[in-house]
Amino acid sequence: MVVTETARTCLKVGKLTAHYDETIALQDISIEVREGEIVCLLGRNGAGKTTTLRAVMGLLGRRTGAIEVNGHATEGLPPEAIARLGVAYCPEERGIFASLTTEENLLLPPVLSPGGLSVDEIYEIFPNLKTRRSSPGTRLSGGEQQMLAIGRILRTGAKLLLLDECTEGLAPIIVQKIGQTVSMLRDRGFTVLMVEQNFRFASQLADRFYVIESGAVIDQFTRAEIAGRLPHIEAALGL
Ligand SMILES: Nc1ncnc2c1ncn2[C@@H]1O[C@H](COP(=O)(O)OP(=O)(O)OP(=O)(O)O)[C@@H](O)[C@H]1O
Ligand SMILES: [Mg+2]
Repeated sequence: MVVTETARTCLKVGKLTAHYDETIALQDISIEVREGEIVCLLGRNGAGKTTTLRAVMGLLGRRTGAIEVNGHATEGLPPEAIARLGVAYCPEERGIFASLTTEENLLLPPVLSPGGLSVDEIYEIFPNLKTRRSSPGTRLSGGEQQMLAIGRILRTGAKLLLLDECTEGLAPIIVQKIGQTVSMLRDRGFTVLMVEQNFRFASQLADRFYVIESGAVIDQFTRAEIAGRLPHIEAALGL
């Protein structure tokens, strides 16, 4: 799908700066995501990718700069209020509760706006989860846990999904399945901002990319531009 310049902006991050105690984590990060896009944040370990997503969700204490979700400034809003603007976050650590079943985990996040998928629709996307609906979180494989972590944010009604390293540690066949799922979600009207270390995977899926290094955006390009500047990108990512 080609997203035109005129598509509505779902997320606008302008000159975002954030600290952890006295350490500066993000410096003047500016990012834009338009409706229907899959946008990817790339960068080495510790670059500031997760911190950027956490800032969007209002999970950082202190930050400066402007963040708008679906046209609304998020300054000073608590995470629940930001989520209600139509954004959901699937964290790197997945956050599956071991003592709850698959279905209980699925039902955990609240439905915040209309248009979320039903549990049956989520089971249609991830049939494995249906088979495992009564299994405790601990019994799920890494791939099943990742599918559950993605599946449960689809109930909330958010159309902008923030996915942090959703292929990390998974077998190639599962990575492929997750790629197909993200692509299908875009076809169903979702917009995705993802963080990826797996450049090969991301380069086949995302429309646009930002490279983050030491808390700053050092490069940005579209999928079509990758071939012409591959050596430069690989050097920036340490590949
Ligand atoms: N809770 C925290 N307290 C202090 N420093 C932190 C905290 N979380 C992250 N940092 C530091 O902030 C910087 C950015 O971290 P962040 O987790 O955003 O990186 P990342 O790009 O997501 O890395 P990775 O690819 O390893 O997940 C790093 O230097 C990290 O050590
Ligand atoms: Mg991270």
